[in-house]
Amino acid sequence: MAAEEHAAAIRAIEFFSGIGGLHYALEFAHPNAEVITAYDINSHANACYAHNFKIKPCQTGIQSLTVKSIEKLDANCWLLSPPCQPYTQGGKSLDDKDPRAEGLLHLIKLLGELKQPPAYVFLENVPNFEVSQSRALLVNQLDRLGYEINEFLVTPLQVGISNDRRRYYLTAHLTSSSDPKTAKSRSPYIDQAVIHTTPWPEALFPKRERPPSELPSLASYLEDLADDAPYRKQYDFNDPTSLLDLGLRFFTPTEVARLHGFPIDAIGKGEYLGDVGHTKHGFEFPEGLTLGQRWKLLGNSLNVRVVGVLMRDILFGLKRI
Ligand SMILES: C[S@@+](CC[C@H](N)C(=O)[O-])C[C@H]1O[C@@H](n2cnc3c(N)ncnc32)[C@H](O)[C@@H]1O
Repeated sequence: MAAEEHAAAIRAIEFFSGIGGLHYALEFAHPNAEVITAYDINSHANACYAHNFKIKPCQTGIQSLTVKSIEKLDANCWLLSPPCQPYTQGGKSLDDKDPRAEGLLHLIKLLGELKQPPAYVFLENVPNFEVSQSRALLVNQLDRLGYEINEFLVTPLQVGISNDRRRYYLTAHLTSSSDPKTAKSRSPYIDQAVIHTTPWPEALFPKRERPPSELPSLASYLEDLADDAPYRKQYDFNDPTSLLDLGLRFFTPTEVARLHGFPIDAIGKGEYLGDVGHTKHGFEFPEGLTLGQRWKLLGNSLNVRVVGVLMRDILFGLKRI
């Protein structure tokens, strides 16, 4: 961690900020980082974000941002978790033709127009993004600008959380040897890209020991509920008495947040004392959001610990500018 103490300050913009999963991960990963502006069009997500971080995200469509408005922020890090529907079967897999991809495509274009592109870029999405045209446009732009890129498909199980939810992650950073002119003379990144399936690929961490394979029991994530009726309702609706007999219920929002690695148990302490790190802010929902809205916001969100580990060890851990 000694190197981290001298790490250059990070000024991040969080695009598609939702309830701030990337913000918590950044705080976990870097000792000297702040999110200076966040953008999201969802008012429920923004209310939750403002409640926990005391920053109100801009409720502006990302596709309408200008080079000038971004340059004014003087950020050196972009965090992105664009909508996943363009890359899912349920969302019809329309990829870059889906209007919901417009925000991401706009940011890819803006990247090429900035006087000084951000030193660090992090993106999260669903499996299948890695074979999309949107991803090809993104990595080709980053490659052209001289970024060192790493891509991953990993699950929280690999960082010690009992939740199997494989997702796609991309880290990109400009290094001191980054030079768009040299980039031109070597073969394109996309032709030799490898999608890593572990957070610590041997090629990058030849000496790293594998993390312990033992996982906490699912029971350790559960709340002790005096009344679990609100979480059984939907099973009741579809009858199966046999399911009721088994005492099945949905996870509560607190339990889902724990399975996503959110600092949900930290309110009032100001930091999250998990076994692997700290965040400055705790997480809780503001009053007034229904159970359904809480589940939906968490469902759209991401695993804070997976992202935190990738940011710490890959995005900020490799050669720095
Ligand atoms: C996959 S979720 C990201 C969730 C976030 N990482 C979190 O931790 O909650 C995508 C988010 O992008 C927002 N969004 C979608 N299209 C947008 C656009 N064009 N401009 C701004 N926000 C947008 C949605 O409201 C949603 O909150």
